[in-house]
Amino acid sequence: MRFQDRVAIVTGAASGMGLLSAQQLAEEGAKVVLTDVNREAAEAAAAGIRETGGQAIGVEVDVRCYEQIEGAVAKAVETFGSVDILINCAGGCSSRVFKRPEPFHELPIEVIQWGMDVNFKGPVLFARAVLGQMIKQQRGVIINLGSVEGVTGTKAVDYGSSKTGMMGLTKCLAVYGAEHGVRSCCVSPGPVLTRPGMANMWTRMGRAAEPWEVTKLILYLCSDDAAFISGSNHTIDGARSVGVRDK
Ligand SMILES: NC(=O)c1ccc[n+]([C@@H]2O[C@H](COP(=O)([O-])OP(=O)(O)OC[C@H]3O[C@@H](n4cnc5c(N)ncnc54)[C@H](O)[C@@H]3O)[C@@H](O)[C@H]2O)c1
Repeated sequence: MRFQDRVAIVTGAASGMGLLSAQQLAEEGAKVVLTDVNREAAEAAAAGIRETGGQAIGVEVDVRCYEQIEGAVAKAVETFGSVDILINCAGGCSSRVFKRPEPFHELPIEVIQWGMDVNFKGPVLFARAVLGQMIKQQRGVIINLGSVEGVTGTKAVDYGSSKTGMMGLTKCLAVYGAEHGVRSCCVSPGPVLTRPGMANMWTRMGRAAEPWEVTKLILYLCSDDAAFISGSNHTIDGARSVGVRDK
């Protein structure tokens, strides 16, 4: 029960690693605010946690909308009394989400804009929204989901560069928050089996990660066991990003 009496906000919590992180935090005692642009799915996921004895609420938040972000932070404080953890998990590769096969230089601007807004601007705005409360408490952790593609670079330019930005955001938040007891870490996964297609992505280990392998790292970084870890990026990619690929 590492998170007893802690309050966590998770973005993109209706599916994948956001959902699993929220469920696992609740299993370890956290009160969880599941936010997602998909209101029904966020509420259903929160109801599922409550059915198993956990404490959770679902709130509709499009991370591109600061008003909704602020509303969710206020709701967390009003319902559970604090905000101790933020996991910026909402995101995705724009060309995949919008099923656009063309190369970056031919993508519609709206698709590129979505990629940058959801993968980078949203997390910056969400951090802005929780920091006041975390500084008041003199305690907090902000975890940002990057990607191995933000480490290596990728032809998915808006996605990869936004994910590189998550490492920068993490460093800035670590500098900004340290004197207030606020930490920040970035987790940059390689392919994760939140959808079947990820199994086809190359890693040196010859497989993609199970979602729990990544959420276990996320929860560790949220916990007091990681009290001296801040500003760092944690690549978890089956050695995809290291060495020279000679075949
Ligand atoms: N799955 C992978 O292989 C992988 C690899 C590297 C990095 N990541 C990153 O990890 C994070 C989670 O990935 P996943 O595969 O578990 O996610 P997922 O695709 O299963 O879920 C993403 C969630 O974000 C929500 N979302 C989309 N747009 C939103 C918006 N504007 N506002 C709020 N919520 C929104 C979706 O509704 C969805 O519930 C993402 O940031 C992703 O880029 C994933």
